[in-house]
Amino acid sequence: MTPFEPPAGRVAIFPGSFDPLTNGHVDIILRSAHLFERIVVSVLLNSEKKPLFSSEERIAIIREVFREYPNVEVDAFDGLLVAHARHHRASAIVRGLRAVSDFEYEFQMALMNRHLEPTLETVFMMPAEQYTYLSSRLIKEVFSLGGDVRGLVPSVVETWMKKKQDAGVKR
Ligand code: PNS
Repeated sequence: MTPFEPPAGRVAIFPGSFDPLTNGHVDIILRSAHLFERIVVSVLLNSEKKPLFSSEERIAIIREVFREYPNVEVDAFDGLLVAHARHHRASAIVRGLRAVSDFEYEFQMALMNRHLEPTLETVFMMPAEQYTYLSSRLIKEVFSLGGDVRGLVPSVVETWMKKKQDAGVKR
């Protein structure tokens, strides 16, 4: 076998809508930050017609949550994810897998991205069990109906959601 020198400075992209960031996302980002030299949390621009948070707000929130993690960066992207990954010289895309129901969609995306960029690997990570039922969509629904989202999103997110509620923003 030829000796293999693993390349240093592995970069991974963690893409998503993050409207809003949940503790499930935080869990995956922290796990990735231990595996990769740099992890770029990449916020998809204009992912929904009526998002709760603008992309600028989502970026500001994620930066605030990870301000003490020097290897966690936040960026925005639109267009093809593989082009964004190339721009950052990333070798991997990280995605969280919560349940079997996530699998089909994730499998299709991973194989399409591999078709577009064969050198880019998709790495799936499982969040801690207590976050397997969490999704940004459910968080917004529960919060808008007056439910308690404490412990499900970072406190920074909770504060920003309350600000939106006080401003009368409905979603
Ligand atoms: O938080 P989400 O909605 O699960 O994230 C989905 C995301 C951002 C990973 C996905 O929509 C995406 O990669 N969009 C970029 C468009 C793209 O590259 N499409 C072709 C490859 S599947």
